[in-house]
Amino acid sequence: MDRLILTDVCPRDGLQNQSTTVSTPDKLKLIDLLVRAGVQSVEAASFVSPKAVPQMADAAEVVAGLKREHAGLRTSVLVPNLKGLERAQAAGAREIAVVLSATETMNLKNINMTLQQATEVSEQTLKSAQAHGMKTRAYVAVAFDCPFEGTTPLERVVQLSRRMLQAGADEVVIADTIGSASPGMVRDRTRALCQDIPVDRLAMHFHDTRGMAVANAWAAVEEGMRRFDVSAGGIGGCPFAPGAAGNAATEDLVLMAERSGLATGIDLMALLDAVDLAEQLLQRPLGGRSAAWLRRQREKSLQAA
Ligand code: HMG
Ligand code: MG
Repeated sequence: MDRLILTDVCPRDGLQNQSTTVSTPDKLKLIDLLVRAGVQSVEAASFVSPKAVPQMADAAEVVAGLKREHAGLRTSVLVPNLKGLERAQAAGAREIAVVLSATETMNLKNINMTLQQATEVSEQTLKSAQAHGMKTRAYVAVAFDCPFEGTTPLERVVQLSRRMLQAGADEVVIADTIGSASPGMVRDRTRALCQDIPVDRLAMHFHDTRGMAVANAWAAVEEGMRRFDVSAGGIGGCPFAPGAAGNAATEDLVLMAERSGLATGIDLMALLDAVDLAEQLLQRPLGGRSAAWLRRQREKSLQAA
């Protein structure tokens, strides 16, 4: 059966912007529940400045805990520069993701670099990670719209994606940082990217600000995309991108895939345990658009048992 390859970014994108700071053991419990549900790839943490993102200050402890407990899990960590890469290596990380925004202002707000600096630093970081035998991803953020500069020129997104690939990225992750994309825009940008880049080297990272994440994911599937970032419970958002709401919910994309004949390896009822734990930890109701319906199915099956 045709498959979607899902990376759950809930432990990083999901938790980086929460007012409640989640403890290291609780982050590990959350990841454990994701793995039990069948998630095979997670973005576990980010090695960024703890002053900029205090929620990720325990990245090294999270990576160390995962190495002990989940040897077979594909675990990536976000690093914005060479210092982040060094910290990730020291912690034992095997896969990193750099973050390059496709506009000048977004790079300055997010990582305090110009577009040119961010491009060069991302290239150096990818090359160094590769030289150390690590797997690599490169985010191209604000690939649709930028909260500061409006619609991002498509040619620039294609050109930066190509540069990240040439610098050694195993996967280029096209990110809709503020959740402003629409299916038509996804189709057009995906087609343009796929002219230059093999589709299996591309992944999509949607945010769901306008309720379009599932429709956007489906538009990408129809263009041949199979790799997607998701976040259990739909939590997430970049602290430096005004208006960024939660990520595409894992449960929504898994349900979409299952009902469309695409495998994910993820058990939806088991995934709800992870969403429940995230709710307890963050002390507020969570869940993608399908979560209420899924919870009713779980209740019915418990009553029938
Ligand atoms: P800066 O202040 O320009 O850095 O920050 P600097 O090089 O001048 O260094 C300042 C201090 O930070 C120094 O320490 C450095 O050692 C330290 P001090 O001497 O003051 O004690 N430093 C670091 N510490 C820990 N880890 C590091 C690191 N680098 C320098 N890696 C910096 C530049 C990039 C560090 C900062 O701006 C930063 O950490 N930004 C965080 C950005 C971030 O986490 N954004 C959210 C993730 S991106 C996202 O969510 C989008 C995504 O989901 C895709 C999408 O949806 O679009 C991926
Ligand atoms: Mg994001």
